[in-house]
Amino acid sequence: MTELLLRGRILTFHDEPLHGEASAETFTYLEDGGLLIRDGKIVAIDDYAKLRAGEGRNVEIIDHHPYLIMPGFIDCHIHYPQMQVVGSYAGALMEWLDRYTFVEEQKFSNQGHPERIASAFFDELIRHGTTTAAAYCSVHKASVQAFFTEAHRRNMRMVAGKVMMDRNAPPGLLDTPQSGYDDSKALIEEWHGKGRQLYAITPRFAPTSSPEQLEMSGALVREFPDMHVQTHLCENTAEIAFVAELFPWSRDYTQVYEHYGLLGPKTLLGHCIHLSDAEVSTIANSGSIAVFCPTSNLFIGSGLFDLARLRASHVRNAIATDIGGGTSYSMLRTLDEGYKILNIQGQRYHPLRSFYQVTLGNARALSLEDSIGSFVPGTEADCVVLDARATPAMRIRMETVETLVEELMLMQTIGDDRAIAEVYVAGVPAKSILVN
Ligand code: GUN
Ligand code: ZN
Repeated sequence: MTELLLRGRILTFHDEPLHGEASAETFTYLEDGGLLIRDGKIVAIDDYAKLRAGEGRNVEIIDHHPYLIMPGFIDCHIHYPQMQVVGSYAGALMEWLDRYTFVEEQKFSNQGHPERIASAFFDELIRHGTTTAAAYCSVHKASVQAFFTEAHRRNMRMVAGKVMMDRNAPPGLLDTPQSGYDDSKALIEEWHGKGRQLYAITPRFAPTSSPEQLEMSGALVREFPDMHVQTHLCENTAEIAFVAELFPWSRDYTQVYEHYGLLGPKTLLGHCIHLSDAEVSTIANSGSIAVFCPTSNLFIGSGLFDLARLRASHVRNAIATDIGGGTSYSMLRTLDEGYKILNIQGQRYHPLRSFYQVTLGNARALSLEDSIGSFVPGTEADCVVLDARATPAMRIRMETVETLVEELMLMQTIGDDRAIAEVYVAGVPAKSILVN
């Protein structure tokens, strides 16, 4: 059995570096490191010389010096049917949804369209160093089939689900409480746990689901308690006012999801910008995850995610692109915009923390830290290889960089897909083999 030994500078986290450089115990950094991979899993991480000495002839060595090898990036909220929505000129959320997004997603009932977009989507994730995503498909079952078929073919670990929506959208985008339930259940049975695929129960958001549909979504959660749940929460003030109209009995937006049994430690709540104190404590008590989507929040003009407030209340958090409200597939660009959103609120976001977040932090948010997000032996060998000198602007800036932390900061501030030198999916090169 051939083993693969990657050589390079290696960075991986064991825990959140809450105190920046003073948190040295939270990460491993090897100047001349080795990562030994067999059958798609990490076997060992150590100094290269030590691993090399212990290995026989049957090891293939790939030397990535002077690049930095990290666990593959994880994106905790992205809409694959929105590749052709990115950069649509609109005002706020509801206009953006009605004028562009709901129009575009209807195309997923067209023959061949889901397959074509799914293929382009995974190419784009790989190009940007993202090896796992929590993704929304469209309302159409075929969109989920195309998504998982392509993810499975590429052996990428994905979390995804069929959007359920039965009101307040064009007829071509509506299911019913019963068909949403039946389709989701059939997809769970076909895909959940097949290879690296995981299913997420996906009611789009309260405005597009009737009480009956939210009831059925809760029934799915009770039937399949291991499943992820993903939805949107408190992204925009008009959205919140609409939810208050639709669910007048509810104290607030969050209580709608709580009422139907949709909150819990595997629930990903996209945005969480405009929350009352009561909502923050409901989310914290449920163990649900608030997902920060910086480029989307800026582009759609939704507001500023208050990470410090959520953390002070022990709300778990994650970070994501939210393509196509978001404007970049790159977790580096996402970190950059996240940094700015926090900085403008007087909050610090140390680069060690941000790189922790897009790897182990997001893996923990997905409860997948035993499989991905670090280089712990036994976990899946998804890796990203980062080149801090990928562009002329990066090269000239690197001349003044002296530390790892400065290099990380540089990559997240001016890096993009060009800084992704290679990607490994379960130990197999995935970026260098892309055709265009
Ligand atoms: N809320 C409901 N659907 C969506 C969506 O597709 N994108 C964003 N950003 N917010 C939403
Ligand atoms: Zn979204």
